[in-house]
Amino acid sequence: MGDRYTLFAPFYDLFSGEYPVYHAGRVLGIDALNPGQGQQVLDIGCGTGLNFPLLQKRIGASGTIIGIDRSDDMLRQARRRARRHGWKNVILVHADMAQLEPGAIADLIEAHGGSRASDAALATYSLSLMQDWQQAWTNMARLLAPNARVGVVDMQDPEGWARWLTPLARLACALGGSDRTAAPWQALEEQCTDVVTASARGGHLQIRAGTMNRH
Ligand SMILES: C[S@@+](CC[C@H](N)C(=O)[O-])C[C@H]1O[C@@H](n2cnc3c(N)ncnc32)[C@H](O)[C@@H]1O
Repeated sequence: MGDRYTLFAPFYDLFSGEYPVYHAGRVLGIDALNPGQGQQVLDIGCGTGLNFPLLQKRIGASGTIIGIDRSDDMLRQARRRARRHGWKNVILVHADMAQLEPGAIADLIEAHGGSRASDAALATYSLSLMQDWQQAWTNMARLLAPNARVGVVDMQDPEGWARWLTPLARLACALGGSDRTAAPWQALEEQCTDVVTASARGGHLQIRAGTMNRH
């Protein structure tokens, strides 16, 4: 899947269906996560940084975004976005979430002026791409402060009236390399309290946010 994003990185924002479909989940996910001014937020599988503008509105210049992605090419786009906006509070880390050593990543974040433990984490359309998303989840949890907020936005087949859109949704997941049956938000439901649940686009987009109280 890394290769897919290597080739696709420069065109991701244009062709990933952002405005017709996926932006809605991003907005709902960040609303539910509700990060505060000055907080440090991990963006897991941050890609080109499409979450960054919405996160910046919440955390302000005194907050920090830590974007982690295994694709150098996606990170290059994220870096360009940060430069274009003049954001000085974005730290980008090239790492595979399922394989990284949380202690080493915390060292790296600290070396770039961030805190070892983040106040919140968000994963939009990324966990379902990771073959070992459970390990990625565990690693993410080890980078969080106690009682951090966590948000997951991911995909499944549409439901109810929207079932007729299933072939389209499946095509989008297949093109992106995502497992539409992974349901990674279940980890959040099991390990968090105060869980906020939402869905959009006929149930294709599943949104959860909560307070992590089990590490
Ligand atoms: C569909 S894109 C989503 C990007 C971004 N979160 C968004 O909402 O637009 C999935 C991203 O996850 C990254 N990714 C996939 N597996 C990963 C892993 N094991 N560790 C870190 N990043 C990963 C890909 O490189 C890609 O940038």
